[in-house]
Amino acid sequence: MTHFQTGLLAPIPSHAMYLHFYCLPSSTEQQIKQTLSQLSSFTSQHDIVVGLASLLLERLGVSIPGLRAFPELSNQVVEIVRPNYDLWCWLRVAERGELVQALQQIQTLLSPVFKLSLQVDAFQYQSGRDLTGYEDGTENPQDAAAISAAILSSDNPQLHGSSFVAIQQWQHNFAQFNSMSSHAQDHMIGRRRLDNEELEDAPESAHVKRTAQENFEPEAFVVRRSMPWMRDDQAGLYFVAFGHSFDAFEAQFRKMLGLEDHISDALFQFSKPLNNAYFWCPPIQQGRLNLSALGI
Ligand code: HEM
Repeated sequence: MTHFQTGLLAPIPSHAMYLHFYCLPSSTEQQIKQTLSQLSSFTSQHDIVVGLASLLLERLGVSIPGLRAFPELSNQVVEIVRPNYDLWCWLRVAERGELVQALQQIQTLLSPVFKLSLQVDAFQYQSGRDLTGYEDGTENPQDAAAISAAILSSDNPQLHGSSFVAIQQWQHNFAQFNSMSSHAQDHMIGRRRLDNEELEDAPESAHVKRTAQENFEPEAFVVRRSMPWMRDDQAGLYFVAFGHSFDAFEAQFRKMLGLEDHISDALFQFSKPLNNAYFWCPPIQQGRLNLSALGI
């Protein structure tokens, strides 16, 4: 029996919704705990991944080792916005229509205590490509390596099987992207869109050169489960990285920002993160979220 939220390592679903909630200031500790306990039952019947933010746990007087707020990082090119979401849910379905009832149910369940702040509609594109047409997730660790990268192994049963997720909603500027030659686009990513071949002669700013996981010291592996999103005429990639800590993601993102060598990731030429957040994904026990670390 798995001790982690299974959606976390399962293949990308056809459709999904990323939901971000604030906890109402008037909510009492008891109400929060009751609602999270109900959410835990909901997770046993739905394909969903749940994450809790450090601020929410602070309100409950709980500290999870390694859980922190998204760091204050920035460079000259990018402004990093860090909304204080308390709760994150990734609803995963096979058909878009299934999201309607699932969304209503989860909102009803959470509504006395949590307010929906941001809803991002996501979908699979061409079996796992970004909307630019590049295959995403190629270098994800697989099987046992994925478990070891994404899932915390701990002597403490309250933490064993939990995970730390970094999320960033990136918005693409397609006019900018389309104005580049396909050669320039390939060199921006560091892979050829046509056959996904890695380009040895790509510049240091190429995305895969910035993020090559085995080149970090220590190696920085994460399991990425990003999905394209769209709303009206805006679209991009909802980036999701699960780790047994935030360290690997943070090392990669710092390198993307060029904080050490002043070379920023070429991706910033056409895309920017609109919002950024960290959550702790509790383990699973008997099919339900194991919230014993919160005294639930
Ligand atoms: C607009 C946002 C992004 C897009 C479109 C994007 C796209 C891609 C693509 C096409 C690849 C190559 C195929 C693959 O191995 O998956 C890739 C690799 C990768 N990306 Fe991203 N990415 C984005 C943001 C990020 C962010 C924010 C991070 C982490 C901070 C990240 C981390 C990685 C990693 C670790 C790899 C694999 C590198 C390797 O080990 O070779 N990506 N990305």
